[in-house]
Amino acid sequence: MEDAMKECSLQPVKRAKLIQVEGVALPDWILDMWEGVKKFQAYPDDLLIATYPKAGTTWIQEIVDMILNEGDLEKCQRAPTHERIPFLECNEMPPYPSGLDMIAAMTPPRVIKTHLPFQLVPQSFWEQDCKAIYVARNAKDNLVSFFFFDKMCRDQPDPGTWDEYFWKFLSGQISWGSWYDHVKGWWKHKDKQRILYLFYEDMKEDPKREIKKVIHFLEKDLPDEVVNKIVYHTSFEIMKNNPMANYSFVPDQVFNQSVSQFMRKGAVGDWKNHLTVAQNEIFDADYRDKMADMTLSFRNEL
Ligand code: A3P
Repeated sequence: MEDAMKECSLQPVKRAKLIQVEGVALPDWILDMWEGVKKFQAYPDDLLIATYPKAGTTWIQEIVDMILNEGDLEKCQRAPTHERIPFLECNEMPPYPSGLDMIAAMTPPRVIKTHLPFQLVPQSFWEQDCKAIYVARNAKDNLVSFFFFDKMCRDQPDPGTWDEYFWKFLSGQISWGSWYDHVKGWWKHKDKQRILYLFYEDMKEDPKREIKKVIHFLEKDLPDEVVNKIVYHTSFEIMKNNPMANYSFVPDQVFNQSVSQFMRKGAVGDWKNHLTVAQNEIFDADYRDKMADMTLSFRNEL
């Protein structure tokens, strides 16, 4: 499939436009999926992995797949990330079917990825009492990572300049909407549903501790040597060189990794290299307003 993807003579991909769906900014190709997403029927043993884009989705996907396969590397290298754990609301991109079609072809138990804010997730996941893992990343690093991703990913709306993007992020006018509403929405529901809420910064600080939380949440019992193996194989350096996890198979017309690599820096605090002093002040003041009502707190550095 990867060869077919590389060889397939795709036309240059036209950049998506931003549309508003139920008050949330989304890339326009989602419209073709929307009916199917709303009607999606979950199974009770489905596991949902949810994130705001660029918060560490691929990282937690790899961790979960390694846990479910009890550290068996060969099994985890059976296919690239998005085939092992399809992306619910993703459109068809020949030769790949849509996320919905890929999920329909899976044998349960299924693991499914979404970037949807809590209120747009198909109700069926909660009616079936499915488990979900949410990973959140501090807003400043998330903003920087998303900017570089939007520059290289042709399937996303044009990010414009760094300064333009900065303002779009603050106003939630980028794909999957406001970071602030996203992290808050999932936080508010985390104790009402079976949701494990993790932080990218905690995962960087002590990956073994956070991986053990996931193991516990998934009701698995793995020996320490397997846990260590999972920690090693899900580190940034190893995943960066793993063709089944680094999105290198996606053709340049879609992911132009010469502009920016998918596995870019994998760090906490890179925002310091990009936000100007003035932007940082504006950001902090705006952040205080938007997050004032929350007990949720993030670390911008370790
Ligand atoms: P940067 O752009 O800051 O490097 P997503 O998978 O949600 O699209 O997130 C991608 C971000 O997570 C990128 O951040 C990427 O480098 C980082 N990432 C991916 N795998 C990682 C890992 N194993 N450890 C730390 N960061 C990782």
